[in-house]
Amino acid sequence: MRFMAARTCLPVLLFICVTLAGHSQGKQLRERISINDGWKFMKYTSNPDNLIYDIRPEITDRNDNVVADSKPTEAVTVGNVNNVLKNWILPTANDFINDAAKKHQRPNGNPGSDFPFVQKNFNDAGWESVTLPHDWAIRGPFYEGEPAAVGGGMGRLPSPGVAWYRRKLNIPATDKDKRIYLDIDGAMSYAMVWLNGNLVGGWPYGYNSFRLDLTPYITPGGDNQLAIRLDNPANSARWYPGGGLYRNVWLTKVAPVHVAQWGTFIHMPTISTASATVDLTLNIENTGTTEQPVEVITEVFALNASLQRTGNKLAGFPHATLRVKPGIKQPITSSVTIKNPLLWGPPPAQKPYMYVAVTRLYIKGQLIDEYETRFGIRSLQFDAEKGLQVNGKPIRIQGVNQHHDLGALGAAFNTRAAERQLEMLRELGCNAIRLSHNPPAPELLALTDSMGFLVIDEIFDSWERKKTPHDFHLIFKDWYEADTRSFMRRDRNHPSIIAWSFGNEVGEQYTGDTGAAVAKKLIAIVHEEDSTRPATASMNYAKPDMPFPAVMDVLSLNYQGEGIRDAPAYAPLKGIRTSPLYPAFHAKFPNKLIVSSETASALSSRGTYIFPVYNGISAPVSDSTGGDPQNKYVSAYELYTAAFGASPDKVFLSQDKHPYVAGEFVWSGWDYLGEPTPYYSARSSYSGIIDLAGFKKDRFFLYQSRWRPELPLAHLLPHWTWPGRTGKITPVHVFTSGDEAELFLNERSLGRKKKGPYEYRIKWDSVLYEPGVLRVVTYRNGQRWAADTVRTAGAAARLQLTADRKLIKANGNDLSFVTVKVLDANGTLVPEAADVITFDITGPGEIVATDNGDAASLVSFASKERKAFSGLALAIVRTKVGQRGTIIIKATANGLTPAQLTIISK
Ligand code: GAL
Repeated sequence: MRFMAARTCLPVLLFICVTLAGHSQGKQLRERISINDGWKFMKYTSNPDNLIYDIRPEITDRNDNVVADSKPTEAVTVGNVNNVLKNWILPTANDFINDAAKKHQRPNGNPGSDFPFVQKNFNDAGWESVTLPHDWAIRGPFYEGEPAAVGGGMGRLPSPGVAWYRRKLNIPATDKDKRIYLDIDGAMSYAMVWLNGNLVGGWPYGYNSFRLDLTPYITPGGDNQLAIRLDNPANSARWYPGGGLYRNVWLTKVAPVHVAQWGTFIHMPTISTASATVDLTLNIENTGTTEQPVEVITEVFALNASLQRTGNKLAGFPHATLRVKPGIKQPITSSVTIKNPLLWGPPPAQKPYMYVAVTRLYIKGQLIDEYETRFGIRSLQFDAEKGLQVNGKPIRIQGVNQHHDLGALGAAFNTRAAERQLEMLRELGCNAIRLSHNPPAPELLALTDSMGFLVIDEIFDSWERKKTPHDFHLIFKDWYEADTRSFMRRDRNHPSIIAWSFGNEVGEQYTGDTGAAVAKKLIAIVHEEDSTRPATASMNYAKPDMPFPAVMDVLSLNYQGEGIRDAPAYAPLKGIRTSPLYPAFHAKFPNKLIVSSETASALSSRGTYIFPVYNGISAPVSDSTGGDPQNKYVSAYELYTAAFGASPDKVFLSQDKHPYVAGEFVWSGWDYLGEPTPYYSARSSYSGIIDLAGFKKDRFFLYQSRWRPELPLAHLLPHWTWPGRTGKITPVHVFTSGDEAELFLNERSLGRKKKGPYEYRIKWDSVLYEPGVLRVVTYRNGQRWAADTVRTAGAAARLQLTADRKLIKANGNDLSFVTVKVLDANGTLVPEAADVITFDITGPGEIVATDNGDAASLVSFASKERKAFSGLALAIVRTKVGQRGTIIIKATANGLTPAQLTIISK
């Protein structure tokens, strides 16, 4: 299968408040105004109002400690009820429903108009003042014990519940002829929006972006009252969803004739280094009352690495003139050739060059709209034998899965926190991200474009069948089309997206033709919205001879390639059991590319080592193998996995034996909130290569040694401070990009060993512990390659502070991630230090959160006091808007020399 494509990004509108003398007679062009500030917020503790979207089934079993690959079950249906608001919300979907007969009619009436919170004169002075993006749950407190109102699956944080946000919108009288839209990048969840007491509409799925037309309800010339109700169901997810207006919110003001929402689609039917044909489909909307003659000019410019326009116009689409009737969206297509294009491709072998198409609309010579579409020029080939090729060059997928949360910052989107996640993944050698299992914040895709990551953009974790009692299946039938189309129209210009995933491990895998029919319905929509990329849904159960995989453009396998519960250590476990299925899928579908959309699900707690050590290559963690149920730790020898998982070593072996597989997406890149397999009394996952605080687990170096083979790397484990283990067997493992290693304990050689075929680590299984210095020297092709040393630490003596960045922007969003280390008198990390550290800050910054990466810690992320975990802790410092100056952070701990660090906010 061959998909050729190229493109870009969410329309980013740079011309704000521009007055064009001579052209516009004083009228302003399109404005995109951030309305993140000035909100009032209130969450009910009791007494919910009655403004519900729909009745939900009763939850009879709240236990969320369910193995991730359990079979999804049939939905519980609820009888139709009349006094719900659903029928007023559904029309918001209409722009994304193709069949006119299926569009929704708004019923008469204005539900909620008499409810106090939507009234202009309601006094919200007692409500909390908040700035968006805002996650109402992240500060906690964590729910402890069993049964808990929110269990480990959803992160033990108070995300469920009903809450209201209110804000005044000052709309000048000069806006009276404009179209005014509210653009919400994400609201968790079941958003319903009132303006001046009128129900405008809403959007239930919390991960999708949506637009509401405020124009009919606005009174220009003063304050207008916006009120938004959100309603997060309990037991609605298998991970932490967050709660609130957790992404950016905008007001968009345009002339009645304008480029429609997500109104451009750019793709390239032919691409070579000599030239590329760029096709543009543009949707022009006329919300006025008369037909208008519109002149369209679109020009192309190059962007630099910071996505700023550089140089002169490179190409221009042919000018077009058309008449746009009132009340419609008029599509128009055109094409241009770009000579010697700079192609977008993933580093290190390629570079992610970006372009921007600037579209201008004129009526009778007057400029009325300007709209920017970022795109990249690149071709993709999905070859069943050779794997993925980008611009004709093979790229092995070295990917990870990422959930949406940002650790201690929760769901509230922050560009710098997301960028830091990607920077560390880049350092790891990762070149691809699967956005499991929902659309991201738009800014994340701007980052993957500019950094050159390959992305699988995914939308659903469930369809009609349910995984948790209140997940998306409740609204699938009403919303699947609108959610799928809106998600794709928002995202389809991003060159980083290489494939669409419209489902993860859905229950429809189990239901034969019935399930495959649902898949067909969805893939048809995906193909209609974008024929340039393949579509898929990830399969952990469907087998080659079932109808489900036959529907897919590419085969996206979760765990099935390596086999599930098929090795001897996994034999006693119940659940899905399959032998390694790459060959069977490849034989049955010789023309379809296979990629592993989830591998590993290996588990560990950074810096904790548990004895004895399993002496095979992969074992399920249990209380007696690799697990410490008391502390809720999993051993970091990096051999232990979820019940259905496999260690990295086992995955590498399987991938190397099946070279036609295009690569893997590890579960998971970073730890995330919720799903704390195997200890559901904890709060966050154990599967990350990087822990929740952003500290590298040992596994980081195992992947890095494979994904960056040219980086001279040697990494020793465990740490070497074991006061109680003198004379006891303490296995030593080495991760290296070399092929041979010699280990020295207190300068005595313990032997030189080579990696055997399909071996990915070098081990000394019977080392007898003695304190001192453990050192490894590794070799490649007989030449010295890299070395690593660990030393026995003395008693904790002092703290040390370092920051990822010491110069940050005074914009109220920028962050510095400050690490504290507990060191002994010689500067060696004390590897099991758990001292309580107190953070203090002075100057124009605040500590927004702290963490230590311990999945079992139920201390609020907002706390300024945090125990070190395996010797480390983290404080996240945020600047204050417009306040420049010197920020000083202090860390103190009982009996230790404190540390201090200076950050400049500029
Ligand atoms: C998979 C699932 C993921 C996650 C993972 C945990 O089966 O698709 O969402 O639950 O297991 O290891």
